Amino acid sequence: MLQLITALAAAYSVATGRLPASAVRGAPTARRVAPSTRMALPIDLKGKTAFVAGVADSTGYGWAIAKALAEAGATITVGTWPPVLGIFQKSLATGKFDDDMVLSDGSKMMIEKVYPLDATFDAPADVPDDVKNNKRYAGTSSYTISEVAKAVGADYGKIDILVHSLANGPEVTKPLLQTSRKGYMAATSASAYSFVSLLQHFGPIMNKGGAAVSLTYIASERVIPGYGGGMSSAKAALESDTRTLAYEAGRAYEISVNTISAGALKSRAASAIGEKGEKTFIEYAIDYAKANAPLAKDLGSDDVGAVAAFLCSPLAGAVTGVTLYVDNGLHAMGLAMDSKAMERP
Ligand SMILES: NC(=O)c1ccc[n+]([C@@H]2O[C@H](COP(=O)([O-])OP(=O)(O)OC[C@H]3O[C@@H](n4cnc5c(N)ncnc54)[C@H](O)[C@@H]3O)[C@@H](O)[C@H]2O)c1
Repeated sequence: MLQLITALAAAYSVATGRLPASAVRGAPTARRVAPSTRMALPIDLKGKTAFVAGVADSTGYGWAIAKALAEAGATITVGTWPPVLGIFQKSLATGKFDDDMVLSDGSKMMIEKVYPLDATFDAPADVPDDVKNNKRYAGTSSYTISEVAKAVGADYGKIDILVHSLANGPEVTKPLLQTSRKGYMAATSASAYSFVSLLQHFGPIMNKGGAAVSLTYIASERVIPGYGGGMSSAKAALESDTRTLAYEAGRAYEISVNTISAGALKSRAASAIGEKGEKTFIEYAIDYAKANAPLAKDLGSDDVGAVAAFLCSPLAGAVTGVTLYVDNGLHAMGLAMDSKAMERP
């Protein structure tokens, strides 16, 4: 802290040409505070309401973000894809996630409300009959983005935090060169446009000073073989849209818009990339990261949860339009340190 104050004072004097007060003889210098008596810098989200889109179990980033926001005192609501809504609600009701819900003070994270959400549809007229009549959607209704925003607005008035933690690419296992137009468009619709639509519909029910955060992946800007089906393109769109939406939603609603480029995590969605019985894409990606990242340690979903909570807090009130890497630094590497080509005789 002392260095920070000194650096700020120096920057001030350079910028203004004036000497900082501490440089004047006899002026009081920055007071050293013993570490034990220093005030903590808390992430305080008490009184804030969050909607986290893309939570269906406790293994993914959406769950970890919801938990970190709850840890900071926010009220948590989530949006869950209809095909997995039943199993998620049953698991919640039967206590399957109880251990994963324990917060640091011993209390349990409360998910106040679970809304069915299919982020590929904006309004009821968009839902085709084969989806309406699909048994995976049986018993659910009002799951399009505009309907969910309306329901959240009716239940909570305004909210403060919007999290987009969802992606879907039906042809993700196919290389881009073999991806169909339909598969490519589906990946972009579910994984990128969904964020645009969420902001369109939730923007009007967000408080000034609010925050929107999404999750992206390094395949948007570097070649990651195995992350196919147009998912790399969808993530590139998501990152570009983050900048444009930061400006547009910043001016329209005075909210921040950021995306976290997260490292590899063995979530349910990521585990689905690959063939059954074989080492999966995500298992390779995790091993690679540990062997090559500057910080050679496991990446936990809570690492991303904590950064998301920061981005949604007043502490990050001047941060918007950013793609923030939370990947143990892997994005910074230009060489694979465990490559055979790097072996020395
Ligand atoms: N797991 C990783 O290694 C990794 C790395 C970087 C970024 N991400 C991103 O993190 C986000 C969360 O993914 P995750 O890996 O934690 O897995 P996850 O399985 O926890 O989350 C994905 C969620 O998307 C939901 N979903 C799919 N299609 C949907 C739709 N049409 N409408 C609404 N919800 C839908 C799924 O039901 C699931 O709950 C995604 O954007 C993903 O691309 C993941």
